[in-house]
Amino acid sequence: MKEEKLLIDGKRLDGRSPEQLREIQMKLSAVNRANGSAEVKFGKTTAVASVHGPRALYPRFLQESDTGILRVRYNMAPFSVVDRKSPGPDRRSTEISKVTRLALEPTIFLEDFPKVTIDGFVEIIEADGSTRVTGINALSLSLASAGVPMKDLVASCSVGKIDGTLIVDLNGKEDNNSEADMAVAMLPNKGLISLLQMDGALTKEEILKLLQLAKESCMQIYEMQKKILKDSYKGE
Ligand code: CDP
Repeated sequence: MKEEKLLIDGKRLDGRSPEQLREIQMKLSAVNRANGSAEVKFGKTTAVASVHGPRALYPRFLQESDTGILRVRYNMAPFSVVDRKSPGPDRRSTEISKVTRLALEPTIFLEDFPKVTIDGFVEIIEADGSTRVTGINALSLSLASAGVPMKDLVASCSVGKIDGTLIVDLNGKEDNNSEADMAVAMLPNKGLISLLQMDGALTKEEILKLLQLAKESCMQIYEMQKKILKDSYKGE
């Protein structure tokens, strides 16, 4: 059990109010040898994503004749966490790769690309909580930047509960000591949720309130994503 309080006089240990996101930075073209790429920082969490393709899929037996496919690899760098993470895939990264793919698949017109693959990579350079949602935001931006036809951008954030209070955008310490945490991804314009994962115990009312908080935060993130994409076309 945790000994330390995570909320003091209504403020979190990093000075934020419960419903406040960390400082968010977004940058396009983070990787040269990619069709699209982006770096997204949520506070001290940094994700670099790249998209390669759409390109022909080999070996040929992997091809789907009536649709393209999205492949995603999420990887956490050994130096990204306090206790060095052993390099290479593990069960956690396999699961996060899968949910990242499922969060993004509904937005891509994959059926327009039979026999083709779109490969997405998420590298977590520095981890301080909420890495999967940071990676989803970076990969969504990378897909758009690569010119992949999309129905909507995907915006993603975490919400949860600490010291009995509902909060937005958990940092690493909050994540490790939370009473509950929830990762959410949305297609804001379409009004769809494409990722919803929860750990911990919450009442139905708390879940509904957290979904509302996630929606409001995802809208803020969505506006930033749209702005950085629009700005990248200025002066072309
Ligand atoms: O990162 P996310 O919240 O999406 O997933 P998690 O599995 O709930 O991990 C929460 C946090 O624990 C990460 O963001 C890291 O800060 C930390 N972590 C770590 O320190 N070492 C690991 N091997 C995995 C996670």
